[in-house]
Amino acid sequence: MHTRFFTLLFFIFFQLSAIFAQHNIIPIPVSYTATNEVFIFDNQLSYDLKTNDSQTKQYVEQFQNFLLGKGISFADKPTDKSIQISLYKNFNSELGDEGYTLEINKKSINLSANKAAGIFNGFQTLKQLFPITTKNNSTKIAGCIIKDYPRFKWRGLMLDVSRHFFTVDEVKAYINKMAEYKLNVFHWHLTDDQGWRIEIKSLPKLTEIGAWRVERYGRFGKTRIEPNPNEKATYGGFYTQEQIKDIVNYASKKNITIVPEIDIPGHSMAALAAYPELSVKKESKYVVPGTNFAEWYGNGKFKMLIENTLNPTDEKVYEFVDKVFTEVAQLFPGEYIHMGGDEAYHGYWEENETVQNFMIKNNLKDTHELQSYFVKRVEKIISSKGKKMIGWDEILEGGLADGATVMSWRGMKGGIAAVKMEHEVVMSPTTFAYLDYSQGDHTVENKIYADLSLEKSYTFEPVPEGVDPKYILGGQGNLWTEVVPNLPYAFYMTYPRAFALSETLWSPKEKKNWDSFIDRTEHHFKRFDATKTNISKAVYDPIVHVYIENDTLMCELKNSILNSEIYYTIDNTYPVQFGFKYEGSFEIPEGNLSLRTQTFRNNKPISRQLQIHRTELIKRVQK
Ligand code: ACM
Repeated sequence: MHTRFFTLLFFIFFQLSAIFAQHNIIPIPVSYTATNEVFIFDNQLSYDLKTNDSQTKQYVEQFQNFLLGKGISFADKPTDKSIQISLYKNFNSELGDEGYTLEINKKSINLSANKAAGIFNGFQTLKQLFPITTKNNSTKIAGCIIKDYPRFKWRGLMLDVSRHFFTVDEVKAYINKMAEYKLNVFHWHLTDDQGWRIEIKSLPKLTEIGAWRVERYGRFGKTRIEPNPNEKATYGGFYTQEQIKDIVNYASKKNITIVPEIDIPGHSMAALAAYPELSVKKESKYVVPGTNFAEWYGNGKFKMLIENTLNPTDEKVYEFVDKVFTEVAQLFPGEYIHMGGDEAYHGYWEENETVQNFMIKNNLKDTHELQSYFVKRVEKIISSKGKKMIGWDEILEGGLADGATVMSWRGMKGGIAAVKMEHEVVMSPTTFAYLDYSQGDHTVENKIYADLSLEKSYTFEPVPEGVDPKYILGGQGNLWTEVVPNLPYAFYMTYPRAFALSETLWSPKEKKNWDSFIDRTEHHFKRFDATKTNISKAVYDPIVHVYIENDTLMCELKNSILNSEIYYTIDNTYPVQFGFKYEGSFEIPEGNLSLRTQTFRNNKPISRQLQIHRTELIKRVQK
């Protein structure tokens, strides 16, 4: 009898402690207070929608569909257990446009905000409070009081659809996922050397020719073969204007604004394949199939072996730009249009007489000033369509156009310079926000130009010291897709680093804490696993650091994961849990041998096994 009683008590305690455990919300809310009540989703549930706002109604419908998907249905008449949604009559300035309050007790869920966007964000939090697997009519969530609002208004992700094409459904899936983490700007990199992806009705060749290239596989660069004569361009695709409207509409239902990017004057080979007359040399071209066409000398210096820039001295170019932005402005209701401006090669301008004469006539002392002349004219075109122009930080060179917003990618310095000139800035530095960079050891991850671990991306701080924060709109992660051929891999490269960005851009700076973040991230791994969405778990892998001490090769192992142990062997044996538990740096002896190492928790492997030959370790020391 007694035993059964204690077993029952233990069982109840266990259930309750599971429910009242610290929440797993990403990004972490401004404030969260647990109460000791539980809300049970049973079939006695009703809705109490205290607003007529149509956008809010749409968001409520989405949440109803989410519940229906979990087998949770509603009573068809009012009940005493309800989900209450309301908009504040008097604007609550602390919450702003996107904040919300959420109170959950045993009888009701109360979600309130100033605007529909806040209701949307509140629903994202509420969805994360659900257990990963739910049971019909008995799903429980823990009572709490949450107050929450974002630190920054620009919380972006960029997807490059030029280097690889992503279908309408894939773009929607990408948008859908980012919205769940309260990211609210989708920067759509629509054009580049390897494909023009947006239908421009007045310039049909942009997509008839510019959207297609010959099919090639594997890494971009020297190993890809140039198109053979008469080879058909079969890889690619583009979005029709109807499809674009559909995606814009889809994004608005997810509280996401799309910022379209048309990258000019550089990165324009696809456009020039269609209209070669817009370049200086006017030579016919093809859309680059990822073959090598540039020499990179480090320090941002490079040479384009094929001309991929528009001619900034030709009036026809401005007519072209005007046509493109007229249609782009009509398709995208957001405030901003991105004009690229990055990595424009000036070599073909420098060696052309007409261009040089134009510069003398217009008193432009170098090609930076010529590029600035171009950017300023583009800014006038974009603002004439009722939009604000944003560009990569190269638009600072030679003088920044009035009213331009700067997206700082080559570190933070461009952003700092722009703020000094009282321009608005989005921080998107390679060092913290480039999602194409490798996430872990190169023996198990593609080696790209650089590395960016989850832990490093979590240390991103968009407001540099001494900079007036009012000019920093926010920040953004960028997924360039030279090495990302499909959607599952796009998710793999984006997450979990986008969790880190989301928390940096939404949550108060003082709330950020790695141990708490990685704990919640591990919970979200399970959420992604449950929907079979590909996500990187590279953060579990041991980080291998080798160095020479007293002429011996030494090795240090670590990871950033809580409650874990690292095991290793250095004698070509496996599995590694029968080797050594890592307790401090160790010597790698001479010989034909490999280091094998792996992370464990409770004797179960939680990382991949790394296997690195000694000769490779030596090379790492020498780098
Ligand atoms: C860039 O990464 N070229 C903006």
